[in-house]
Amino acid sequence: MLYFAGVIIFFALRVVLVPPTFGEIGWYRAESVGEIAGLQTKIGEEFRCFDCHITEYAEWSVGEHRNVSCESCHGLLKLHAENPEKYKGYDEFLSPEAFNSTIDFCLSCHGESISKPEHFPQISVKHSKSWDCLNCHNPHNPVGS
Ligand code: HEC
Ligand code: HEC
Ligand code: HEC
Ligand code: HEC
Repeated sequence: MLYFAGVIIFFALRVVLVPPTFGEIGWYRAESVGEIAGLQTKIGEEFRCFDCHITEYAEWSVGEHRNVSCESCHGLLKLHAENPEKYKGYDEFLSPEAFNSTIDFCLSCHGESISKPEHFPQISVKHSKSWDCLNCHNPHNPVGS
């Protein structure tokens, strides 16, 4: 009796607890496919920045940072690119403003570390003699200018 009661309780709980579309396609909720596909992306596309920021884009595209996307430094700005009046070109987690200073911002990539490949340009804090990096480097074309 106990055994059969256990089996019945198991199947009753299973009906209640397993989400409706589970198992239709595979070992997961079939619904989740649509939910994930419907998520808004946050990354804009580089060429769209060009529409409005021609100066920065032109400098960037010939400089040493040309392989670092605008959004690696400025954050995820799709909403801004679509509607700059409403959304500022600013990301609170990933942008120069999110750091204490531009020095900290630049060093977040260029800080010396033994774990980085040797060919990656790395500097110590001494290099800037505590001047702001932007006194000598243009972030969009750090060597050329
Ligand atoms: C439709 C035009 C448009 C597009 C596309 C656009 N921006 Fe902007 N952006 C603006 C305007 C307008 C401002 C505000 C300028 C000002 O206030 O002087 C701005 C400001 C900025 C700022 C300065 C923010 C600040 O607070 O100082 C950054 C950084 C920026 N945009 C980055 C980007 C990036 C990266 C892209 C591509 C993903 C992009 N923008 C696409 C129009 C645009
Ligand atoms: C290596 C990092 C880096 C990359 C890559 C980068 N930026 Fe910037 N950008 C900066 C920094 C640093 C500033 C200066 C912020 C400040 O003065 O507070 C800046 C400033 C700006 C501003 C504001 C200019 C002003 O006069 O206020 C705009 C607009 C901008 N960037 C757009 C872009 C666009 C578009 C791209 C891609 C084509 C891009 N940036 C790529 C680091 C970067
Ligand atoms: C998101 C990471 C990132 C940030 C932030 C960043 N850089 Fe870079 N920087 C790079 C990469 C990647 C290269 C290209 C390295 C290569 O060619 O091997 C580079 C190249 C450079 C070079 C050329 C070095 C050489 O010997 O060719 C200079 C100078 C430079 N960055 C200065 C700056 C300054 C100043 C800032 C802050 C405004 C900054 N970087 C912020 C990633 C970054
Ligand atoms: C006083 C001016 C000045 C300041 C401030 C400055 N730099 Fe430089 N930086 C230079 C010069 C000049 C060179 C080229 C020197 C050389 O070829 O040895 C250089 C080279 C570099 C390089 C390339 C080094 C390499 O080995 O290839 C990087 C990366 C760099 N700077 C990043 C920064 C960062 C990040 C800051 C801020 C923390 C900064 N710089 C502040 C003048 C400056």
